[in-house]
Amino acid sequence: MGHLPEKLRKRLIERKKINALRSLPKGIQGIDFSSNDYLGIAKNRIVFEKAIGILSEKEIVNNGATGSRLLTGNGILFTELENLLRDFHCADSALIFNSGYDANIGLFSSVPQRDDIILYDEFIHASIRDGIKMSNARDYKFKHNDLADLDAHILRVKEKGASNKNREIYIVTESVFSMDGDSPDLKAILDLCRKYKCQLIVDEAHSIGLFGSNGMGRVQELELQEGIFARIITFGKALGCHGAAILGSEDLNKYLINYARSFIYTTGLPAHSLATIMAAYHFMTSPAGLKERDLLHENIAYFNEEKERLGISSFFIPSSSSIHSCIIKGNNEVKDVAQKFIKNSFDIRPILSPTVPKGEERLRFCLHSFNTKEDICFILQQLAHEINKL
Ligand SMILES: Cc1ncc(COP(=O)(O)O)c(C=O)c1O
Repeated sequence: MGHLPEKLRKRLIERKKINALRSLPKGIQGIDFSSNDYLGIAKNRIVFEKAIGILSEKEIVNNGATGSRLLTGNGILFTELENLLRDFHCADSALIFNSGYDANIGLFSSVPQRDDIILYDEFIHASIRDGIKMSNARDYKFKHNDLADLDAHILRVKEKGASNKNREIYIVTESVFSMDGDSPDLKAILDLCRKYKCQLIVDEAHSIGLFGSNGMGRVQELELQEGIFARIITFGKALGCHGAAILGSEDLNKYLINYARSFIYTTGLPAHSLATIMAAYHFMTSPAGLKERDLLHENIAYFNEEKERLGISSFFIPSSSSIHSCIIKGNNEVKDVAQKFIKNSFDIRPILSPTVPKGEERLRFCLHSFNTKEDICFILQQLAHEINKL
């Protein structure tokens, strides 16, 4: 077998030196405070059986899609599911991608053109950054959730390109940030977009299933969907399965089918993935799904009350979502604290630099509907004990 080139081996050694060498763990290791399965749908038997039911009712016996959706891979469930997503999320159209990563690189690499500008929140997800890197547009980041900084950036690029009437400005944010768990003031951002005639793109990966009636997401909770150019929704988080969709106008849908390379040059999702997404939506809107969402929000409120009671709130980034990050500076330090949780059979992951900026390393607690109050109380007490020792 060929040897890894020396310069690549050196990069691995550099990672090891800063205690940030990644390796594959064994899945969930203990009581789950780290997965994205916020409502427990990934292991939900009702959803599993409903998906099988959908396949057998339609007599679909397919192990794979057999090709790109533009060739042989566009099975019958795609249209049904895209119509369901379009109606549920009050959009003009929905286009399914194989993952949120694929959706973001497809959208950002194909839509913004050479003369256009992308202004993105500095904490935006890596998949959006990668898509932006593949685009020919100019890009600038604005300070996290900072409207004044965004406003200043828009004014600056408007002034510079005043003569270019064809230029679009895309503003990009997430409705719940994946590493911080906090949210921008979406209404105020949309007002800015309207004022300056910019296009707003919102990644809703971590808000679908949690916010809005039936878990429609933050954008619909705030009734902002009409003004938004594109929403990215993903099915691998609260929906407990896999895949993603871009919600937008019918013209955007047509454009992506023609130009988004991560949509065109890949095999479509298999029918059982689509049936599982359908079953997950069915569950999410059922009384049982509502109960899970209520339990999750009770746990979020309890977590926030307990960290206040224990006097450790100031170590956390304020959040009302499932994601709660406690800043513990240094890769070694945050890894040590995470290790103590793992020894007590709690799966809580350290997020290291360079995934987050140096000095902002953190323990990331993901809360679920199935976590118990006793466990939340225990982990926060243990955390308070560890913080006091730092
Ligand atoms: C904000 C955000 N967008 C997109 C993605 C990618 O989604 P997927 O896991 O479906 O590729 C993630 C996943 O971590 C995410 O957190």
